[in-house]
Amino acid sequence: MQKNLVIEGGHPLRGKVKISGAKNAGLVLIAASIMAEGETILDNVPRICDTEVMVEMLNEMGASAHWREDGSLSIHPPQHGMKHRTPLELSKKLRASNLFLGALLGRQGQAIVALPGGCDIGSRPMDLHVKGVRALGADIQIEQGCIYAQAQETYGARIYLDFPSVGATENLIMMSAKTPGMSIIENAAKEPEIVDLANFLNSMGAKVRGAGTDVVKIEGVAQLKAGRYSIIPDRIEAGTYMIGAAVSGGEVLVENVIPTHLHPIIAKLQETGALVEETDQGVLVKAGERVHKVDIRTLPYPGFPTDMQSLMLALLSIAEGTSVIVENVFENRFQIVDELNRMGAKIRIEGQTAIVEGVASLYGATVRATDLRAGAALVLAALAARGETVIEDAIHIFRGYENITEKLRGLGAHIK
Ligand code: EPZ
Repeated sequence: MQKNLVIEGGHPLRGKVKISGAKNAGLVLIAASIMAEGETILDNVPRICDTEVMVEMLNEMGASAHWREDGSLSIHPPQHGMKHRTPLELSKKLRASNLFLGALLGRQGQAIVALPGGCDIGSRPMDLHVKGVRALGADIQIEQGCIYAQAQETYGARIYLDFPSVGATENLIMMSAKTPGMSIIENAAKEPEIVDLANFLNSMGAKVRGAGTDVVKIEGVAQLKAGRYSIIPDRIEAGTYMIGAAVSGGEVLVENVIPTHLHPIIAKLQETGALVEETDQGVLVKAGERVHKVDIRTLPYPGFPTDMQSLMLALLSIAEGTSVIVENVFENRFQIVDELNRMGAKIRIEGQTAIVEGVASLYGATVRATDLRAGAALVLAALAARGETVIEDAIHIFRGYENITEKLRGLGAHIK
């Protein structure tokens, strides 16, 4: 995998791009599949570093997983004797490995998972996960950066999440799917990936109701039967190419999307002056005459997604006027600002707020990707910048975007 991306700016993105399956649905469904008896086949899982790491973990833990000829992913956990500890080295690379907590407790009543690594976008503790699995009957010890969980006697419980954490909601839905009795999660996360998890579990015989609302009710069942399931398209990947069209002065049709999942992004993009139209092939985005300033507050779904925050910073750095972006979900997700300012942007941070004074244009520079979405935002900024940009540590970008270089080249970008 090449370490750096080199992009020559000034070429508008034009054409069609097919959106891949959602990374954040694929990761949780890969974890959940160990709860099923038999072979699970998952369709539309993006083949990216993060999903490859999850597959490697499954094989290390004794569940055989492999990509099939048709691109689908086969996962076959053993009848007995699956390890209950996630491989430490691999779990340091990927926060989503913490999703094995709920899946392992649901499957075999014990789990040892590392407190997460992944992107360093804030402390990202797991206190809500721990509070929830404890309520369901697990004993938890936290030592040397690992969570040791034992759950011999488990019972349904009512759990209130202080914050609608996506991962905590997912872990608790997975564990309670096989916990005797009725469980209720209040103030649950409502992201589309949660709904996809619930639909997947229900297709295996689980009884999950209310996913997508802030109260999820789960009646535990004794057994889940494996089957075949196709995951939803990636709304953040779609948003990335939509902003790519707007920032580069081009016109892009993103295909294979679920428009309702994109409404928060579409609404804001229209406010910046881009023309966005839902067609039955997908969503068409045409850059406006110029980019207008907008104010944004990131919020849990259906608010404006935090994962789109860096990408909007790139677009608004060339807007007319001054935009204000407040990051309400993570406490340290503005690392990209220094990199954008090296490209001529004028952004300053005040606490959780970024004030973006639009400039006429950006210019190419050597910059560094600090996390997945920041890396993607640097790609977009480079498309709009005058001259050549070198993005170092581009590996972050390949963690979450399937075939991004080929897809951008297909849209006319000059990238290598
Ligand atoms: C998921 O992360 C996504 N990752 C993230 O996408 C996404 O940004 C995030 O949800 C919010 O939408 C996956 O689905 C694999 P959270 P997650 O638990 O579950 C705090 C990407 O780029 N919190 O909803 O880790 C936490 O510190 C990635 O694709 C607690 O305080 O997010 C954060 O500030 C980046 N205690 C906030 O909640 C807890 O126990 C949101 O975290 C758990 C979370």
